[in-house]
Amino acid sequence: MCGIFGYLGKSDAAPILIKGLKKQEYRGYDSAGIALNCDDNSLYVVKKAGRVSQLERAVDFSVKSCCGIAHTRWATHGKPSDENSHPHTSGDIAVVHNGIIENYQYLKDKLKNKGYKFNSDTDTEVIAKLIDSKYSSGTELIDAVLYAVNKLEGSFAIAVIARGVNEIICARKNSPLIVGFAKSGYYIASDIPALLEYTKKVHILKSGEVLQIKEDRAELTDFYGNKLKTEIKNIEAESSDSELSGFESYMLKEIYEIPASVNRTVTSNKDITDFLKNKKFNHIYIIGCGTAYNAGRAAESYIENWSKIKVTSTLASEFRYDTRLCDKNSLAVFITQSGETADTLEALKAAKECGAYCLAITNVENSSITHIADKSLFTKAGPEIAVASTKAYCCQVALLTLFAAGFAKAGGNNELFDEVCSELLLETNRISEYLEKQNVSILAEKYKDTKSVFFIGRGRDYPLAEEGSLKFKEITYISSEGYAAGELKHGTIALMDKNALVVAIVTKSDMVDKIVNAVCEVRARGAKVVVLSTLEVEARFKDISDDVIIVNGGKFPTIAAVVPLQLFAYYTAKIKGLDADKPRNLAKSVTVE
Ligand code: M6R
Repeated sequence: MCGIFGYLGKSDAAPILIKGLKKQEYRGYDSAGIALNCDDNSLYVVKKAGRVSQLERAVDFSVKSCCGIAHTRWATHGKPSDENSHPHTSGDIAVVHNGIIENYQYLKDKLKNKGYKFNSDTDTEVIAKLIDSKYSSGTELIDAVLYAVNKLEGSFAIAVIARGVNEIICARKNSPLIVGFAKSGYYIASDIPALLEYTKKVHILKSGEVLQIKEDRAELTDFYGNKLKTEIKNIEAESSDSELSGFESYMLKEIYEIPASVNRTVTSNKDITDFLKNKKFNHIYIIGCGTAYNAGRAAESYIENWSKIKVTSTLASEFRYDTRLCDKNSLAVFITQSGETADTLEALKAAKECGAYCLAITNVENSSITHIADKSLFTKAGPEIAVASTKAYCCQVALLTLFAAGFAKAGGNNELFDEVCSELLLETNRISEYLEKQNVSILAEKYKDTKSVFFIGRGRDYPLAEEGSLKFKEITYISSEGYAAGELKHGTIALMDKNALVVAIVTKSDMVDKIVNAVCEVRARGAKVVVLSTLEVEARFKDISDDVIIVNGGKFPTIAAVVPLQLFAYYTAKIKGLDADKPRNLAKSVTVE
């Protein structure tokens, strides 16, 4: 949800900023802009609606500057347009911002009374004007920024420059911001992968910190100017982890990375439930958004079976309205790839207020959630760049399945835990084999003109159906729904006709007969049917469906079964000429509620 990049050093800033934006474009891509503090003491600002490549074409790279800030936007306040793009300026000040200023209308009215005129519909412009209102009266830039951050309510990561002053000031409240320290200068970004090309030494700003970066030093304070010490961390990841490496898109690359990432996740989490020793819970909540929520639901039955504790899966954005039974005897498990999703962070705060023990399952070390959870466990998917989550989902399901088996281990059943570990590792081999021979693009071509798709399943296949549907609609823009197969006849079957496609999923043998019934019912109404199974059931479905996909699934088939669904979404988007990596209206990390 918006990417910030900044640079202060000895090199030409403009190409570095554009490259930094390209790396973070997955965070938001409806407009982009840069502001340079030029060697001739002028401020050079270019901003454009559209992708970073459009901005790149508009930038004059002969402008000399070694200090600048840049932004790629996911619109919250104000439509995507040149005017609403960042940086926002006022007098000598330029600002880029990620987050939402909740009291912007109040501040805007006050600034208007002081004579300020606004050129955009954004909340961000008030930050520029607020800083300018102090700075233009002779206050130092750092003091003007401190003044402003104390007036702002909501969430923000900002980077600020002023004409003729060779420094960048960054501040953070909730939204992420990281500063990289390299011989070639200081680099500012919203995520770590964008920095790895330059340095692995970073300071991750905490909420309430302000970093003043000058040519020769960086000084950290709190919002009141009290000095703090930077904590430089060494990051292990490689910059090549976020490259396309010969694949035509990140989504496809990330699907092909599923076996390796699940393998890493399983092997590095074998002591997963040590923290459960000496703890007693009477209710487990599993909380997340979108795909992360679906991952929780996919593993819910394993957790309930092996822990013998009641499990409730809840959407993060709904959890705070449903905390009635959450208390100090509850374990609340928060699943989030990015660790930055605002709804999930807010749900965690609500669970903490109820006294629950809060466990985060995230893919990003040092992400915001790791600072507020009681304990964090890490999926090892590596950077996930495509907006549609694929390998992260598989790692989440694997980790949750292991976590479920950990309850058995905590109760003395080591055998089950070991079996689950080896089964999950075997699963990765099966997925590799499937990926080598998959030909889902043929199905995508066959069904590309379908007007609506219904993904159906029962029991643990129902959340899988919902995940298949989410992936499909997210990147193909074809209307789709995930349904409990048994529910169709209670209403939705009214939508079945020759324009509908039903993808029926079955990974459990005791569900086969029921899915056969559902398939017959929709086919009788003219719908096309694709059956996806991890069982040897081709013969049962051959004559009653249009296509059958069989994936070898083993004992925990949920991970293997999702792969063809992800590929189906991917190839359909590709055939329709859509950008699967950056679907419209979306952003990778949703840092607003
Ligand atoms: O970073 P998170 O896992 O917290 O993100 C949650 C959802 O926004 C995310 O899974 C979203 O639904 C995906 N784009 C779906 O592919």
